[in-house]
Amino acid sequence: MNLSVPRRAVAAAALTALALGGLTGTAGAESRAASALAAAPDIPLANVKQHLTDLQAIATANGGNRAHGRPGYKASIDFVKAKLDAAGYTTTIQQFSYNGTTGYNLIADWPGGDPNQVVMAGAHLDSVSSGAGINDNGSGSAAVLEAALAVARAGYQPSKHLRFGWWGAEELGLVGSKYYVNQLPTTERSKFAGYLNFDMIGSPNPGYFVYDDDPVIEKTFKDYFAGLGVPTEIETEGDGRSDHASFKNVGIPVGGLFTGASRVKTSAQVTKWGGTTTAFDRCYHSSCDTTSNINDTA
Ligand code: TRP
Ligand code: ZN
Repeated sequence: MNLSVPRRAVAAAALTALALGGLTGTAGAESRAASALAAAPDIPLANVKQHLTDLQAIATANGGNRAHGRPGYKASIDFVKAKLDAAGYTTTIQQFSYNGTTGYNLIADWPGGDPNQVVMAGAHLDSVSSGAGINDNGSGSAAVLEAALAVARAGYQPSKHLRFGWWGAEELGLVGSKYYVNQLPTTERSKFAGYLNFDMIGSPNPGYFVYDDDPVIEKTFKDYFAGLGVPTEIETEGDGRSDHASFKNVGIPVGGLFTGASRVKTSAQVTKWGGTTTAFDRCYHSSCDTTSNINDTA
């Protein structure tokens, strides 16, 4: 892979590989990784970037952020929902209340598949109040959105049921995802084959981190990156610091990807991945987390 000329977003493509082949296919365990690569459609980088440009414009038009309780958050929800509705998804906006203001989760179901075997991918859509939140977490939100749109374009009909989610108020303590999981009856929770989380996957000085959680999901991601010749490490910058924790806490198998936040890249990691011995994301939770704060290859 030519790291300098990205045509598809690595993490976004990995997401689709997993959703389309790794967890939802009918292939045996030993051939899942291979079929994941073969079955994964292209995730055009340009489409992901356009979603980030649109989220930036939403922030700019709404006081510079997309934070819980602010108009930029609801505008972000409406933007993602409109794309999914147009693509044929069944969408639901779930409301909750936190800090005296209304919060929103967006759930999108792809019609079909076994309702007793649900594979869900999600990302938090809220930013902190200090900035537009384009890496944290426009990146995960845009990747999950484009993966969902790729499913629709492919007319994909997996054996399992596919669901996508965008969470509110993650930055205030995983509030939206906790609300979603808490209102799920126990019988519904038991139908999840897995939940995949994407929070900060376009860091400007990226590392390639895989969550160390469900071993099958973890191995599928690692094999995918290995197939691209991209070394990975286990995510250690803050276990439980994103929405997968809400699912893990009720016994749902989880996994996910992360390209680093405020921690500093070591010289060994620079040797492995390139970049510099500075923070993976020097704009983490600050006003410079704009469309300039994205590494296209990641
Ligand atoms: N939104 C997360 C946070 O503010 C970002 C983050 C930090 C993260 N460390 C992580 C996400 C580790 C996933 C895994 O805490
Ligand atoms: Zn985040």
